[in-house]
Amino acid sequence: MSETKKIIEMIENDNTTQKDYENIKLPSSMNALVTLKEEENIFGEMETEDKDISKTLHYKEVTIPEVGDDEVLIAVMASGVNHNTVWSATFEPLPTFNFLSHYAKSNPKNKKHNLTYHILGSDAAGVIVKLGTKVHDNWKLGDRVVICPAVTSNTNPQSYKDSMSDPNTKAWGYETNFGGLAEFCLVKSTQLMKKPEHLTWEEAASLSLVSSTAYRMLVSQHGAEMKQGDNVLVWGGAGGMGAMGIQYVLNGGGRPIAVVSSEKKAELVKKLGCEYVVNRAKKNFNFFKEDGSINKRHLIAFKSTVERLIDKESADIVFEHTGRETFGASVFVAKSGGKIVTCGSTTGYEHTFDNRYLWMYVKSIIGSHGANIYEAYNANRLSCLGKINPILSEVYTLENSIEGCIKVKNNQHIGKVGILCLSPKEGLGIKDHELRQKVGEDKINIFRNLKNK
Ligand SMILES: NC(=O)c1ccc[n+]([C@@H]2O[C@H](COP(=O)([O-])OP(=O)(O)OC[C@H]3O[C@@H](n4cnc5c(N)ncnc54)[C@H](OP(=O)(O)O)[C@@H]3O)[C@@H](O)[C@H]2O)c1
Repeated sequence: MSETKKIIEMIENDNTTQKDYENIKLPSSMNALVTLKEEENIFGEMETEDKDISKTLHYKEVTIPEVGDDEVLIAVMASGVNHNTVWSATFEPLPTFNFLSHYAKSNPKNKKHNLTYHILGSDAAGVIVKLGTKVHDNWKLGDRVVICPAVTSNTNPQSYKDSMSDPNTKAWGYETNFGGLAEFCLVKSTQLMKKPEHLTWEEAASLSLVSSTAYRMLVSQHGAEMKQGDNVLVWGGAGGMGAMGIQYVLNGGGRPIAVVSSEKKAELVKKLGCEYVVNRAKKNFNFFKEDGSINKRHLIAFKSTVERLIDKESADIVFEHTGRETFGASVFVAKSGGKIVTCGSTTGYEHTFDNRYLWMYVKSIIGSHGANIYEAYNANRLSCLGKINPILSEVYTLENSIEGCIKVKNNQHIGKVGILCLSPKEGLGIKDHELRQKVGEDKINIFRNLKNK
């Protein structure tokens, strides 16, 4: 039996001891989803929608990296697809090999990250199989964990205020190598968080990145600091970020208004508890005219649609990640003194908006990126308590993960797409059956149930 198979058996066996983990024999190679440096220019000037990422994503056997003194090797049971894997595969806005070479230069310890292949993925749930010599005692071999995607360095004084404002903080598996879409991944010990034990491996792996990002955007002092009763407009309500945003708004006593592009997605966000929904496809909103200028008529129509839904009130907060196509509408629709909090630009990062609607009505735009370790810890705690639930809709094996990535690129998915890495099948990894029953299968499986209808 291969070493990897033995490790899977150990993880699945409830009687495995600490001693067994100490005696583990690690394989020297593993399978992973990678991009290749030699292909970073193959798309040339091609438009994003024309880029076929099945050409640039590869399921490949690679070497398992050395574990540094403050690092941890995880046997990855499951991972998930995030939009940054799509960015990596399209080499937009920059080939990620540029990030890897910068990271390698920042510290001699990071040299190993600069390879001719990039192991992608910023989420994982799994088991600690090797600890660096300087990892503190909070963690031990065999611990079941999920991963905070922020790789902090604490080399810049700003990091002590908020590590996300430290320019040296990196997104794991995007700006660093050895990410979660692999059989084993390498993380800093500061990235470890305990796995929500009422969830399966694939459910747990689908949460950390989107949940911690949404937590910072809405709850944290670094984000919009939502209050009870706030009206929050959530773009892409049935996508990864949006469905998380809706859950945080509802938990905090706010009123989410979701924007989606189909009736199926509208039904889904209503199941999440979101009463107010705008189907943008039905209304055919287009905030730019053919010549590229701002389409004021559609801005006004959109604002009135939103305000009619919420009894003529306005949006206190706009939860933005959709970018160019929507940003002008987000600035326009926010109420006087309102906030637009943004973490991304799916439809393009060069935004155009009429600044009069920002300054005259004293609105603010808040840039938000990932989450610092404390924010990620708080978001994960809510998952562990069953107060933030998975939004997993479908699951692929690592070998077939490229198919899942293509669906995310083409906006053909809902919620999150999960990937089984070492876990041999779906449904494994639950330890706290009592909490699972208390939360309810219906709540945990909202997105899966709709998918299977
Ligand atoms: N900075 C960070 O730390 C961070 C973290 C996580 C994600 N992000 C970014 O946030 C973005 C969303 O991530 P995600 O995981 O939620 O992706 P996702 O699951 O693909 O969801 C994106 C949503 O955008 C909506 N959308 C697409 N085109 C649109 C358009 N033209 N107008 C309005 N809505 C449109 C879609 O909703 P409908 O078609 O139903 O309207 C879709 O559900 C990505 O760009 C990602 O890179 C950033």
